[in-house]
Amino acid sequence: MLNINNLHAEIDGKEILKGLSLSVNAGEVHAIMGPNGAGKSTLGYVLGGRPGYEVTAGSVSFDGADLLALAPHERAAAGLFLGFQYPVEIPGVSNVQFLREALNAQRKQRDEKPLSGAEFLKLARGEAAKLEMDAEMLKRPVNVGFSGGEKKRNEMVQMGIIDPKLAILDETDSGLDIDALRTVGEGINRIMRRPDKAVVLITHYQRLLDYVRPDFVHVLADGRIVRSGGPELALELEAEGYAAVAA
Ligand SMILES: Nc1ncnc2c1ncn2[C@@H]1O[C@H](COP(=O)(O)OP(=O)(O)OP(=O)(O)O)[C@@H](O)[C@H]1O
Ligand SMILES: [Mg+2]
Repeated sequence: MLNINNLHAEIDGKEILKGLSLSVNAGEVHAIMGPNGAGKSTLGYVLGGRPGYEVTAGSVSFDGADLLALAPHERAAAGLFLGFQYPVEIPGVSNVQFLREALNAQRKQRDEKPLSGAEFLKLARGEAAKLEMDAEMLKRPVNVGFSGGEKKRNEMVQMGIIDPKLAILDETDSGLDIDALRTVGEGINRIMRRPDKAVVLITHYQRLLDYVRPDFVHVLADGRIVRSGGPELALELEAEGYAAVAA
């Protein structure tokens, strides 16, 4: 589904990704762990098409298409979803407006019928309920004044509504309380654990992986994948630290 080959990317002339390769097949969950500043969020931004990041070498194919040739909205319409480490606040735009616009824009690109206001509201309320988010929060401006954990939960409500093929989730577990961690973990499984979908979980800790069991764990250090293994690698990292494992 996703094939990243020898990816090099820089920002403001500084090379951050230095020959990163990663393959993700449909039906798989991959965890990416690694030290602060290694380039994990950068990888997510480059895949999502965030302006300012320049790809200087390498290739990325997504479902057989050249991902890097697509505009950010085309990547989203193709089924790519990015959950942000720091979700952005959008004052003046309600969650419902934002999500309906996003979903219908994607449906249009895929030649699907737009959802009416009523249809959309039903879908959004259903997703909010499944993630135990108060439906009132759907009316509030996107993420404005949301607590850290509420923002992360809101990202998962967005993901449930958008229903992507591939989700790249950047520290979705950070800031969640113990109960929210379980709800969000179960949400990721419910929405994404399907034979035709895949997930890349960027995380620092085993705790989310207790709920969303990865098939593969990778260590990203200094802009490339330096080690890959099964679920046991996350436990090993937690016990030993990166210096011992990634060397
Ligand atoms: N505009 C910029 N100019 C120079 N360096 C930058 C710029 N933006 C980001 N960086 C650097 O890129 C590196 C990678 O950052 P990134 O956010 O991808 O790390 P990360 O692996 O996600 O870390 P964390 O675990 O702390 O979230 C960092 O050293 C960061 O300081
Ligand atoms: Mg990061």
